[in-house]
Amino acid sequence: VSDVAATSSGTSGDRGSVGLFGAGVIGSGWTAFYLARGYRVKVHDPAPEAEQRTRDYLDRTWPQVVRSAPGAPTSVAHERLTFESDVDAVAGVDIIHENGPESVERKQEIYGRIEASADDRALILSSSGGLMPSLLQADMSHPERLVVAHPLSPVYALPLVEILGGAKTSEQSLDTASEHLTTLGKHVIRLHKEVPGYLTNRLTFALVREAVHCLLEGVADAQAIEDAVVYGVTPRYVLGGALTSLAVAGGGDTGAESMTKVVTYFAPAIEEWWSDLGAPTMTQDVKDALVAAADAILGDRQLSDVVAERDAAVVEIVETFHS
Ligand SMILES: NC(=O)c1ccc[n+]([C@@H]2O[C@H](COP(=O)([O-])OP(=O)(O)OC[C@H]3O[C@@H](n4cnc5c(N)ncnc54)[C@H](O)[C@@H]3O)[C@@H](O)[C@H]2O)c1
Repeated sequence: VSDVAATSSGTSGDRGSVGLFGAGVIGSGWTAFYLARGYRVKVHDPAPEAEQRTRDYLDRTWPQVVRSAPGAPTSVAHERLTFESDVDAVAGVDIIHENGPESVERKQEIYGRIEASADDRALILSSSGGLMPSLLQADMSHPERLVVAHPLSPVYALPLVEILGGAKTSEQSLDTASEHLTTLGKHVIRLHKEVPGYLTNRLTFALVREAVHCLLEGVADAQAIEDAVVYGVTPRYVLGGALTSLAVAGGGDTGAESMTKVVTYFAPAIEEWWSDLGAPTMTQDVKDALVAAADAILGDRQLSDVVAERDAAVVEIVETFHS
């Protein structure tokens, strides 16, 4: 494990091999990310259509991948991508990303297959979006090498990766995973504890929860709720997050000075708003309301077009503000 980061620097040339288990939305994104940086990518996915789907995805998205990875080859290096048996996918690799279904049992089964053939020192990075790493590693023979490395979609473009370990994960594995991904251009944040949904999904779903509540309460229609985020909240969050926005609201010379005013003068208003936030549950009525909202917002638009447009915007924002 300790040697991995040293072999990972740079953005072109042959960097060695990485093993991926699962080539759905996230596995395809990691495939693009590593191919753009000169790696050979060995994928295991039992779905018969996985290989063609992944190669089509790469061809379709490559112009954007190149924009998000300066120095990447101008066309997809398909010859560096191979679909393998589980045994061959881990042969000779130091880093393995697990991108299988979001289920503790399914992931534990995948780790069993990986550990049956992989080098004992190989690092296993799970893309899980919110499962507890202590549970994921429970049956592993080398649990110290299991690290959650949670990316966001589109993986090739969004810089953030959340890194966290379970009770048995070693500090060295966390350090090596962080260093490896940082060297390749990811923006790594380390979580100090295991919490469901980690950090990004908790923040995201706090906003989703209130959006659903406002929709159900008839505060505004679905399109207006979207517009509030797209035209108001998001542009302010491009460079600073929720805490920065709060910190600058008070005025003054420094963040601390401004935040002091905020907590002094706005505390009653903030508490009143907090106490009024909704906590909807997923009843059938709520599910129906969400499907109707999606229909009102997106209508007959092809979903693949919507996602492609979103991903192109992500690439542009990252290129403009974060590179
Ligand atoms: N979709 C997202 O936006 C997103 C974002 C971040 C993290 N994640 C997480 O990433 C993981 C993968 O999510 P996804 O959206 O790519 O799912 P997906 O359903 O698109 O892909 C999962 C893939 O795993 C494959 N698979 C099933 N069993 C396998 C096995 N035994 N070995 C290898 N591959 C196997 C499937 O054939 C499928 O291609 C999940 O843990 C998910 O929570 C998803």
